[in-house]
Amino acid sequence: MAQRLHLLLSIIFFVNLICFSSQQDFSFIYNGFNQGQANLHLDGAARIQSPDGLLQLTNATTQQMGHAFFNRQFDFGSASSHSLSFSTHFVCALVPKPGVDGGHGIAFVLSSSMDLTHADPTQYLGLFNISTNGSPSSHLLAIELDTVQSAEFDDIDKNHVGIDENSLQSVVSASASYYSDREGTNKSLTLLSGDPIQIWIDYEDTLLNVTLAPLRNQKPSKPLLSRTINVTAMFPDRKAFIGFSGATGSLISYQYILGWSFSRSRASLQSLDISKLPRVPRLTKPKKISPLLIVLLVILALIVIAVLGGLCIYRRRKYAEVKEAWEKPYGPLRYSYKSLYKATRGFNKDDRLGKGGFGEVFKGNMPLVGDIAVKRLSHDAEQGMKQFVAEVVTMGSLQHKNLVPLLGYCRRKGQLLLVSKYMEGGSVDQYLFHGDKPPLSWSQRIAILKDIASALCYLHTGASQVVLHRDIKASNVMLNGNLQGFLGDFGMARFDDHGANLSATAAVGTIGYMALELTSTGTSTKTDVYAFGAFMLEVTCGRRPFDPDMPVEKRHLVKWVCECWRKGSLFDAIDTRLRGKFIPGEVEVVLKLGLLCTSIVPDSRPTMEQVVQYINRHQTMPDFSPDTPGIGVSTPVLMGVPSLVLTSTSGTSSASPPSVSSFSANNSMFISHTIINGDGR
Ligand SMILES: *[C@@H]1O[C@H](CO)[C@@H](O)[C@H](O)[C@H]1NC(C)=O
Ligand SMILES: *[C@@H]1O[C@H](CO)[C@@H](O)[C@H](O)[C@H]1NC(C)=O
Ligand SMILES: *[C@@H]1O[C@H](CO)[C@@H](O)[C@H](O)[C@H]1NC(C)=O
Ligand SMILES: *[C@@H]1O[C@H](CO)[C@@H](O)[C@H](O)[C@H]1NC(C)=O
Ligand SMILES: *[C@@H]1O[C@H](CO)[C@@H](O)[C@H](O)[C@H]1NC(C)=O
Repeated sequence: MAQRLHLLLSIIFFVNLICFSSQQDFSFIYNGFNQGQANLHLDGAARIQSPDGLLQLTNATTQQMGHAFFNRQFDFGSASSHSLSFSTHFVCALVPKPGVDGGHGIAFVLSSSMDLTHADPTQYLGLFNISTNGSPSSHLLAIELDTVQSAEFDDIDKNHVGIDENSLQSVVSASASYYSDREGTNKSLTLLSGDPIQIWIDYEDTLLNVTLAPLRNQKPSKPLLSRTINVTAMFPDRKAFIGFSGATGSLISYQYILGWSFSRSRASLQSLDISKLPRVPRLTKPKKISPLLIVLLVILALIVIAVLGGLCIYRRRKYAEVKEAWEKPYGPLRYSYKSLYKATRGFNKDDRLGKGGFGEVFKGNMPLVGDIAVKRLSHDAEQGMKQFVAEVVTMGSLQHKNLVPLLGYCRRKGQLLLVSKYMEGGSVDQYLFHGDKPPLSWSQRIAILKDIASALCYLHTGASQVVLHRDIKASNVMLNGNLQGFLGDFGMARFDDHGANLSATAAVGTIGYMALELTSTGTSTKTDVYAFGAFMLEVTCGRRPFDPDMPVEKRHLVKWVCECWRKGSLFDAIDTRLRGKFIPGEVEVVLKLGLLCTSIVPDSRPTMEQVVQYINRHQTMPDFSPDTPGIGVSTPVLMGVPSLVLTSTSGTSSASPPSVSSFSANNSMFISHTIINGDGR
């Protein structure tokens, strides 16, 4: 029997049906108001929201009322049969607008009439107006959840529950709270929290109990309000409509009923299914952030800023450059340090092509540009930099098929970076003096000499101004993949205008390639010719111009070649690695031309234009013999040269011969440091 009843109740429960069989059994349940809407009488702002079935009494608009009544009268039954009792359980939610105090509240109502449209909102809660308030003819019993303290009705606070008999002046009221059975204490509730609140109203034996609890709680064992009320005296007809009223004033809130169950007795009251109730729309309040959180956030922000700032400064330092106004015209030729840093993978040691007193050379790769060589020169002084960069840039504009193309430059504090095309063949000295490259054949050697002669001729005569290379030597002659010769390393070159006095500039060069007059009268096209002569002998003989390891008579190449010629065995001087495979006529011209170029009498030396003619055998050389004055005289090395600067660095990988710089005091920049190799060569 009990089981069957339970089953029946479950079915009713499930379909949200209103069980309404007889007056004896007046009971219904709404788990949300989607079903059974026809049995509800709504007015004012009251409406049922779809699709969730939330019953809204007010919607946070000012001066609003909303009423919702069950549209059949609750019949108290005959006076004789039994005393009146009823029980109801509902869930409401009063949701304030974010940041605004909400009003005014809602009430559960027993009323002789469903028409409360003449009532007023605000503090009248949609129940009374000024003339009906306090009148016994109102026939209205209300249990109010009041969220505003109205002085005229002696409200105790703005968060209270009260029982109203025909008047808003409650017969009894209490601050909203509930009894916690677990803790044995009263706990306060905030009606306007926006959270759903459960309310039970039980009437039995003239005792009216009102009990509150948060949504998830069981019904507390002790009610908040318990008061003897003669309900039958208020409703002489022994009938009343039951429902809800809500109102706003200038203070507003959204006021909702989520679910409602009503029955004639406590025992037959069906429980609401909390899980089926509609959800209350949460309004995102500007959440109060705890000061601790703010402090933490500020600290975090500061850390982030510090890290980012540090990173920024680090990057700026890492990629810092020196840029000055006078460099503006050179803009296109200027590379950013960052791009060079990336191209060389951070100047990776694995990509280093060479190292010397002047600095280091790195191989790199740039998108669009291709393989590049980056020469990193150290410099300390700012003086003369402007002139030097101007020269470098001008050199970038020099165009000759046998000049290593200079692509641009970059300036940093204490550093100058020169960017040129990468030459995959390496430098000529690697072929001549080191075992790491195969020896060059005679035809390759003569082709390289012709290439370099042509390039040097262009520098001396072809450009708009005379360009002196000033450091011609095997390690500055580069080869491409086809072993074509390219004159490179303009790092120490100087410019002079055509016809100007060329002797006033600094003397720079490498021992064995330096003409004698260099230290006295300075550089000129003649000193370049001298160095080229030494280079010709070097390429043909496969040894350095000055070799201290050789026997005394062979030590100076110029002297030795001349000696061989004098003895009638000129070909004794040439590179044994040629294994006799050469064209004697060509070799003879090259060796003799080498001797002519290295004459210590500058005026005896040919010009580069003449050199090109002779080496290509378009013209014959002037007649001279090993005994012609100035021919075959070795230049003294390092002796008696007061302005010579000599420093040594050990462990340099470049095996070039000692490089000596001599310069005038006002031109002390850009001079490569002298290199003396560890092995003393
Ligand atoms: C509240 O409802 C009224 C109609 O009763 C409507 O005009 C108004 O726009 C609604 N306000 C909000 C905020 O939903
Ligand atoms: C008060 O309400 C009653 C009906 O409930 C109505 O007849 C009366 O006119 C209203 N009075 C005012 C002042 O609104
Ligand atoms: C709890 O509240 C009720 C009603 O306000 C009061 O009668 C009761 O004394 C309170 N109990 C405690 C433990 O504070
Ligand atoms: C009302 O509460 C009192 C205890 O405060 C209790 O004795 C009584 O049975 C309750 N009545 C109803 C109808 O719940
Ligand atoms: C309630 O009121 C009715 C009519 O006014 C009266 O007959 C009855 O005795 C009252 N009951 C109590 C318990 O006071």
